[in-house]
Amino acid sequence: MDKEILEREVREIADSWKDKEGNLIMVLHQIQNRYGYVPREVSLVLSEILDVPLARIYEVITFYHFFRLTPPGKHTISVCMGTACYLKGGAELLGELEHLLCVKPGETTKDGQFHLEMVRCLGCCGLAPVLKIGEKVYGGVKKKDIGDIIAHYSEEAEAQAIA
Ligand code: FES
Repeated sequence: MDKEILEREVREIADSWKDKEGNLIMVLHQIQNRYGYVPREVSLVLSEILDVPLARIYEVITFYHFFRLTPPGKHTISVCMGTACYLKGGAELLGELEHLLCVKPGETTKDGQFHLEMVRCLGCCGLAPVLKIGEKVYGGVKKKDIGDIIAHYSEEAEAQAIA
């Protein structure tokens, strides 16, 4: 990313929140909306512009699970860990995804295809256990289904790469 352009973009965002309370969090939200995550080079520029130590910026980013330090990945897999889903095996689904994709919640696979996250209730508890990939909701998922579900998205990516 060109440093001049980056500085201009970050300054634009920072300026709009400069005099408001809790501005660092709001600025970080805007940055994540724009880039999909909070890149390290953006944090460095932000630290200069707002005159806030870099360590403080990282403290905020890591405290709030909402913020991402890595690019989000092509497909975001949200595993519901709300009460209904948890009781019906949500943790088992999450464990299988961690195992198959070799990532922990909050991380993106090395190939950038999948980002794994936990969520609290997707609003369709009757379908528990539930997971969501992009906008598609999968209900009544069993551990043995996970491989096929993931394979579907991986094949899609391969087909696009060939086309
Ligand atoms: S608890 Fe999972 S959808 Fe509500």
